[in-house]
Order: sequence, then structure tokens, then C-alpha cells
Amino acid sequence: MKEVLTRDGTVTLKNEIYGECYHSCEGAVTESLYKHIYPAFEVAKQNDYFGGEIKILDICYGLGYNTLLSVLNKPKGVKLKIYSPELDEKLVRSLKNFDYPKEFEKIKHIIEKLSTDFYYEDDDVFIEISIKNARDYIKTLKNVDIVYQDAFSPKVNKELWSIEYFNDIKKILNKKGVITTYSVATPVRCALYKLGFKLYTHPYDNIRKGTIASMSKLDFPSANFEEKLKRVECKYIKDKN
Ligand SMILES: C[S@@+](CC[C@H](N)C(=O)[O-])C[C@H]1O[C@@H](n2cnc3c(N)ncnc32)[C@H](O)[C@@H]1O
Repeated sequence: MKEVLTRDGTVTLKNEIYGECYHSCEGAVTESLYKHIYPAFEVAKQNDYFGGEIKILDICYGLGYNTLLSVLNKPKGVKLKIYSPELDEKLVRSLKNFDYPKEFEKIKHIIEKLSTDFYYEDDDVFIEISIKNARDYIKTLKNVDIVYQDAFSPKVNKELWSIEYFNDIKKILNKKGVITTYSVATPVRCALYKLGFKLYTHPYDNIRKGTIASMSKLDFPSANFEEKLKRVECKYIKDKN
């Protein structure tokens, strides 16, 4: 796969089958931090870090930025349990040689272990990468606090954006839990809205907006989706159209 240098100086890849990059050209690290980790950890903080153990579903592992940056930004005294499905076993095996940013050096032992065993655990962190279809894998989980919804776009990775998929996510997500995604697409927001999620955006100005969804009220700017629905029809993606 072709390496792509993003605007914050960090490297992503372009996947030729999906025809998309694994991250936005705004920056692989910047996107992961500002669209996923910072808002999700803010929700965790407001909920006393879910009792000291945060259960994260990372959809999907890809180059591992979301999982690895969660570890690097882990709040003190909290245990992270990260579950991540990924179809591309060859990609995961190759990541021990990936050109990660310098700050990842201190977790090199985690990167290497994940890349060979698809599993890592110490006192503070548990990580499991499952080489499975995310649609099947999510049905095996429960009591999830955070979902990083970071599939390829709805256009090319439809099965991970349909209303049936989000309904399965809803079943395993805690009431106070949160979904973070880079997508602001109306069909994505519409599916979440139809399922009863409240929709927000992140408060940061250095990067394009995404969507933050929860069944609970959150202290983030509203996505004002009801306003939008006065002007557009609420159409969502279905498994079988
Ligand atoms: C945009 S990339 C994820 C980037 C990743 N979160 C990161 O931070 O590097 C999307 C990933 O989803 C995987 N994928 C797509 N459809 C899948 C499915 N149905 N089940 C499991 N993995 C899938 C792809 O192989 C790809 O690695």
C-alpha cells in the first residue's frame, strides 16, 4: 500500500481496494486525537472513568492509531480494555515495521506484541485484535463504554454504517457510553437519530467536525440534527436496500 504523508507530519496508507486512505489528510494523529480520543475520554471523565475501567470498541484496527493513542493518552489510575476487529490480518502483521510517529517509540513493545500475537496485556491495558468481520464480532461483546466508529466511508464500507449495524452497537453500548466518528454524513446521523441517539459535534476548531453520539445528554455542542430534518428527508443505509 502507498504511504501518504498527512498535514500534521504523520503517515497513513492508501488502501487500493477501498480507494481510500486510513486517515484524513488533515493528519492521522490529529484526527485520531480530536475526533475520537479527546471527546471520548472527556465523556469518560464526566462519568468517573466508568468505575476505573474503560471498555473501548475500536472499529476497526487498521493502522492502530486509535488504539495506540488511547494507550498513550490513558488517564492515570484507569485501566483500558480495548477490543478491535479487523479483516486484514496481513496489515496487522506488517505494523511492527510501520513508520509511526516518534512518540510511539515508548510503546514499541506493545506494537510488536500486537503485530505478532494480536493481544497485549499489562496492569493498565488489555488489547485484543480479532481477525473477524466486525458485524459478527460486535455481537460477542457487552457493556462497552466507548466506540471509535472509524470504518472506511459509508460509500465503500456500507456494512459498518447501516441502521442494523448501529442497532447492534446500541445493544452493547452502556447507557452513558459514547460513539465517536469522523462522519457527518446525513444517512449516518439519520440512522443514529432514528435509534434514539442524541447527536453532538466536537468543540475543537483545528479540525473538521465529526459526530459524537450517546443515549445520554452530553456537554458538547449539539449537531442540530432536528433543524436539518426540517429541510431534508431522514434516509439511512440499510443492510439490504
Ligand atoms: C479507516 S480504517 C481504520 C483506521 C484505524 N481506526 C486507525 O486508527 O488506523 C478501516 C479498517 O476497517 C477494516 N474493515 C473494513 N470492513 C471491515 C469489517 N466488516 N470487519 C472488520 N474490519 C473491517 C479495514 O480493513 C480497515 O483496516
